[in-house]
Amino acid sequence: MKILNVIGARPNMMKIAPIVEAMQAVESIDQTLLHTGQHYDAKMSQIFFDELGIPKPDIYLGVGSASHAQQTARIMVEFEKILLAEKPDIVLVIGDVNSTLACAVTAAKLTVPVVHVEAGLRSYDRTMPEEVNRIVTDALSDLLLTPSPDADENLRKEGISDAKIAFVGNVMIDTLNKHKQHAKEQKTPQKLGLEPGEYALITLHRPSNVDQRDTFTGIVDALVDIATDLPLLFPLHPRTQKRIEEFELAEKIAATPNIHLIEPLGYLPFLDLMMHAKVLLTDSGGIQEETTILGVPCLTLRPNTERPITIEQGTNILVGSEPDAIRREARKIIAGQTKPAQIPDLWDGHTAPRIVESIVQMFG
Ligand code: UD1
Repeated sequence: MKILNVIGARPNMMKIAPIVEAMQAVESIDQTLLHTGQHYDAKMSQIFFDELGIPKPDIYLGVGSASHAQQTARIMVEFEKILLAEKPDIVLVIGDVNSTLACAVTAAKLTVPVVHVEAGLRSYDRTMPEEVNRIVTDALSDLLLTPSPDADENLRKEGISDAKIAFVGNVMIDTLNKHKQHAKEQKTPQKLGLEPGEYALITLHRPSNVDQRDTFTGIVDALVDIATDLPLLFPLHPRTQKRIEEFELAEKIAATPNIHLIEPLGYLPFLDLMMHAKVLLTDSGGIQEETTILGVPCLTLRPNTERPITIEQGTNILVGSEPDAIRREARKIIAGQTKPAQIPDLWDGHTAPRIVESIVQMFG
């Protein structure tokens, strides 16, 4: 069975690592790793290969950044050539980034079966580019591997047959469990001059938060206020870094010594910082899940989430992007008002072997 595994952007990296490892253990599987190059900076890509022991991609498309249509189209053009040359039996795509969509569409047109890891998540908000990517990828996939039962339900509502759906759990937790101890040993908070448990960790990169001057300025104002109570550590995604410069927010932030802007971090130091944070303020998808497992409070600066289980069972609270709501909810957590959390079913660190088992069962 010749499987072509696709990755492209940062959130794919921590999910592919355990899948590659689980596939290596199955003799009948011949795997190839393809990186589209959607993310290309060392701190957005290579660092995760080094830290997580992901093998060097066999194929690198080098598509880089561009508008959605251009980036998606470039990936499709290059990926089609690869499919015609490599003739894989299966293409495996992960998550909801443009690389996921582009490769699923290209494979489906060449009638190569598509396996989608992290299928079925829905925010029901089509202004999010990722939601469009999820809907199209799921509609074209032959095997849909879901992280939580709500995802199965969403797929059934869209008329996808039960025979194509398998609830396997959350593969990112395989990586988290494997590296947690090692991450802890990094002593990252101390190295950054922070006291464990006594800082907030911030990540923002959604276009809906950082691409509009008013919205982003309002969020920064809320952060400046929160920083009077707690130091804030804010690793900057390249998109966010650009907007801080464009909207001239750097001066305001620099005038607040308790806000520490730093470059994007690798997996291990970031995991270490999450584990020891008092609270996360984020608009990431994956961080909502990781904080749930770690039992660390998470305020999500979005009006909705495709990961509702992190609210129902985990530590996540949706606060939106209004500065008053952000301040209010952050202060509650700083005052010790946190909510109890439990670990969702099958977020147990053994999802990758279940993924491989489902693939073998369907296509073997
Ligand atoms: C992408 C994903 C998003 C994911 C995020 C994680 C889509 C539609 N979006 O968003 O779901 O949460 O990755 O990071 O696929 N840039 C660099 N270096 C890089 C990559 C990007 O400087 O290595 C800059 C470029 O200026 C680029 C901008 O960041 O234009 C945005 O990158 P892009 O891949 O288009 O989207 P993200 O915002 O990273």
